[in-house]
This record gives sequence, structure tokens and C-alpha cells, in this order.
Amino acid sequence: MLALSGIGELVTNDSGRGSGPLGIVRDAAIVFDDGLVSWVGSSGDVAKHCDVAPIDVAGRAVIPGFVDSHTHLVFAGDRAAEFEARMAGKPYAAGGIKTTMVATRDATDEQLRANVLRLADEALRSGTTTLEVKSGYGLSVRDEARSLVAAAAVTVETTFLGAHVVPPDTDADDYLAIVCGEMLKVCAPHAKWIDVFCDRGAFDVDQARVVLSAGKAAGLGLRIHANQLQHGGGVQLGVEMGAASCDHCTHLDSSDIDALSAASQFTVATLLPAAELCTKSAFPNARALLDAGVKVALASDCNPGSSYTTSMPLVISLAVINMGMTPSEALWSATAGGAAALRRSDVGNFTVGSRGDAVVLDAQSHVHVAYRPGVHLVKSVVRNGELI
Ligand code: NIG
Ligand code: FE
Repeated sequence: MLALSGIGELVTNDSGRGSGPLGIVRDAAIVFDDGLVSWVGSSGDVAKHCDVAPIDVAGRAVIPGFVDSHTHLVFAGDRAAEFEARMAGKPYAAGGIKTTMVATRDATDEQLRANVLRLADEALRSGTTTLEVKSGYGLSVRDEARSLVAAAAVTVETTFLGAHVVPPDTDADDYLAIVCGEMLKVCAPHAKWIDVFCDRGAFDVDQARVVLSAGKAAGLGLRIHANQLQHGGGVQLGVEMGAASCDHCTHLDSSDIDALSAASQFTVATLLPAAELCTKSAFPNARALLDAGVKVALASDCNPGSSYTTSMPLVISLAVINMGMTPSEALWSATAGGAAALRRSDVGNFTVGSRGDAVVLDAQSHVHVAYRPGVHLVKSVVRNGELI
């Protein structure tokens, strides 16, 4: 059992509790038992609800652990040279994925696993307690399957992204047949989700429909990389097929926003502004999505090409400073929003029975996460009810 008291501001994301959309409780305490939240209330009442001495956090804010619902942590090597060239003016293109494919295929299982563990630990230190992790740099039956095994070392939210790009010297139709045939068969037991990169240089809408349909038939949940590099039909396809999340959503028109809004109980728009930062691209218009009633998640997109960061606090700062989100909206989207994008209700909030995942901020208000870009404000992290 673990109890935190003297919490200046506890963000519960529980609409039935506290004030405002984040369900904020002031002068609060929280108790974790058996890995779960067992009690939330006033600091003065905590002794009656725990049998350990509470830790006084001295007025700091406490928030749910971040839920990063979109990462590509399984890879080898890096693309620092590509980053340097991009900063000198070369545009980002999907083709860079092939550089990482070569390094990933050359890596041993142990090297892939070590890289996933390293990045998951880095994410945890900045407050991420739930991660989704995709394959997508193996692009062969063997290498996609072992990528998913490596991903499973850190999460149950594993995503098969064999349809990231067509590998070199391969016919697109032949590759799609493998992805939807043998690769899916071998990978599905290791995956909860299927994803497809539907964009310029990757797969078109018809091809993406084939991939998602095959994944659905194999019992996987659906996610889609859509409308990152240019406007296209990816978001509409994701909504039409009942995807849990359409990710990137950088280039949208009003009919895309209408479609996401109409589907907001089912499909989340996941925005990945660190990708726009690192590719020097225009940011997605989060304000337009929120004003239309779309459910928005924020995630890191951590990958060696377009967004080599695990920092959800950075993502929150970008969303607030560049995308028209309020600090409260961004915090919700990086916690409860990410949970919704993974169709989870047991993370991203502090209702009794939810998982005991929390971040103690070195600040008195959650607003500071956005307000202090690049500053490490994570005082401590609680995961599964234990201080780490
Ligand atoms: O989400 N967009 C597709 N995949 C990644 C980038 C992958 C890469 O460049 O290695 C993304 O940005
Ligand atoms: Fe991605």
C-alpha cells in the first residue's frame, strides 16, 4: 500500500469528482493498494483509508501517468544523418523507413529488446506509464514477428505495422499479399492492433482498406496513420472502418473533421506534434478538432526518423503553444485521451479501481507541464501502485 497526501492539486480525470473537466481535487490525498487506486479524497481524511504512513508531497500537483498511445520503439540504429540533412533543408519522406529496416533486420533479438527497454525506461522517467508499441521496421515475416515479441517486453498494447512501407525491390501487390497472408498469420498472436501507413510514399486508401480488413478478420483492433504528409482519404477510411484511432491528422478538410466528430464515441484523433516539430512541418489544428467535438489524444510517435523523443511533457507543450489547446485539454489528451485511443478505461484517470499509475510534478499546478517547455518537472513516478 502507498498513500500520497498534501497534494496541492490532484488531476483525477473523473468527471464525477472535483472541479472542471479534469476533475481537480485540491488539498487531496490518494491511496494505492494492490497496484490499483483504492481511495481518493481530502488530505485530512487519508489516515482513515490507509494503514501506512502517507508521503507528504508538500503541495505538489499529482496527475495520472501519461498514456502514450503511438510509438515505434522497436528498431535498431539511428537516423542522425537524415536529421542533420533535414535541418539543412532536405524534406522528410517516408523512404527513410528503409534505412531503419536494414539496421533492424541486422540486429539480434537481444539488441531489439534492449533498445525497447531503454526507450520504455526513458519514457517512464518522463512520466509515461502506459505505452503502445508498433512493429514496422522489420518488413519481413520473421522480422515483424520478432519485433512484436520485443514490443511485448514492455506493453500489452502491441501493434502489427507490417504495412509501414513496401520494402525495397519488392512488388507492392506481392508485399500486400504477404502482409495480409503469412505475415498476419504469424504476427496476429503477438499483436492486439493492426496499423497501416496510408500516405504519400506508403500505401493508398484501397491498399490500406485491404490491410485493415484482413487485420479485422484476424481479430485485431484497427489503427491508421492518416493524413500526415498530405491530404487524402485515410482519416475517412479509419472512421468508416471503426478504427480506435486515426493518427497524425495533420492535413484535414472540413469533411474529415465532420467524420471524426460524428464518430467521436468510437474513433479518436491522435495528434503527434513532435513529428511536425522534427520534420519542420505545419502543426495539426487541434482547436478546430476540439471545437467540432472530436475526441483528441496526444502521443509521442517516438521513432528514429520523424520524431525521436519519448517526452510527453514536450508533446503537451507543443500542443498548447502551437496547436491552440488549453493546458487542461492537452493534459487530458495525453492521459485519458490516450487511454480512449487504446479503448482503455483503467488507465489515464484516478477513479477507484483504476491502475495505480501517477506522476508527482515538481510544480503546484498541471499548467506548468506546458508552461515550462523542456524542463524536467517529474519529481517521481508511481507505477502499479509503487513508487519507482
Ligand atoms: O509515424 N509515418 C509513419 N511512420 C513514422 C515515421 C517512421 C520513420 O520515418 O521512420 C511516423 O512518423
Ligand atoms: Fe507513427
